[in-house]
Amino acid sequence: MTGLPAWIGAALGRRLEHVSRAALRKRAQAASETYRAGGTSAIIRSDIDSLAYALVRMPATYAAGRACLAQTVHALPAFMPESILDVGAGPGTASWAAAGAWPSLRRVHLIDRNEPLLALARTLRAAAGAPPVEMTATAGDLASALASAHHADVVIASYALTEIAPAATVLARLWELTGRLLVLVEPGTVSGFRRILDYRQSLLAQGATIIAPCSHDGACPLVEGPRWCHFGVRLPRSRDHLIIKDASVPYEDEKFSYLVAGKGFGAIVRGRRVLATPKVSKAGVNLILCAPGAVEQRTVARRQKEAYKAAKGCAWGDAVPDG
Ligand SMILES: C[S@@+](CC[C@H](N)C(=O)[O-])C[C@H]1O[C@@H](n2cnc3c(N)ncnc32)[C@H](O)[C@@H]1O
Repeated sequence: MTGLPAWIGAALGRRLEHVSRAALRKRAQAASETYRAGGTSAIIRSDIDSLAYALVRMPATYAAGRACLAQTVHALPAFMPESILDVGAGPGTASWAAAGAWPSLRRVHLIDRNEPLLALARTLRAAAGAPPVEMTATAGDLASALASAHHADVVIASYALTEIAPAATVLARLWELTGRLLVLVEPGTVSGFRRILDYRQSLLAQGATIIAPCSHDGACPLVEGPRWCHFGVRLPRSRDHLIIKDASVPYEDEKFSYLVAGKGFGAIVRGRRVLATPKVSKAGVNLILCAPGAVEQRTVARRQKEAYKAAKGCAWGDAVPDG
């Protein structure tokens, strides 16, 4: 289970020392209702609101970011980026996830129009134990902020494009600003996947190489049919999260869809992507895999000792060697 790093937990703990849990709960409920009704994070207007976001949503968006970046590091083990442009950054969630994935990171630039969330990002940057990165930020709307933004090795938009219209022009500009990798993370809903599909199409047309999660650059085999490309990550709930959400289960499951598009990586070995939790039966391990042009079923029998052990050890979202 991927929780927030200890240094973020400690920094939030200090910020929460004199904050009423009743006030936090009220604002967290208002935010949840807004999201359920299709609203956006524009509901976050104060320091209390940004703390409620940090307690209720940030752990899940952080865990989703870490999961995507773990797959990226797996695909590109020699890639060591130094700079990140984090758009719709909120409290810097994706940048902190990136700093955990890539110790080579030196500079992060955040863009967001939400002042209380950016203020929280600054608090986190100044916290004890924060990664040693130089952090700068532009407070403002993406449409104008992107015009004067600088290139970065990695450009990342985590749970942000879903709130930004028209995403097509923004996407083109993000790709222009991308030095090597563009990472897009969206909620793991059917509509989140549909947006990822559109981004994929448009980035391929601009010459991108898809690094993850796709096993190929051809037509997506999940366009038709009941399945959609999404992944899941389980994370622990903090004590405050349990109180604020009136939850009793000590963990939550976050579903996400994502796309990592690269420039200048040449041919990379991607393998097949595991599209669901592997099923173990008497016969062996059954894997559902993304393959060029098709969704593939692979059963690895118990008697195939080494292959069986490897298949049993793999998880939803992992890449496995081709056939
Ligand atoms: C759901 S939050 C995600 C925050 C963070 N990336 C994360 O993963 O936790 C979406 C963020 O996008 C920002 N945002 C939405 N539309 C924007 C726009 N047009 N210009 C700048 N920021 C925007 C919001 O202010 C908010 O911080």
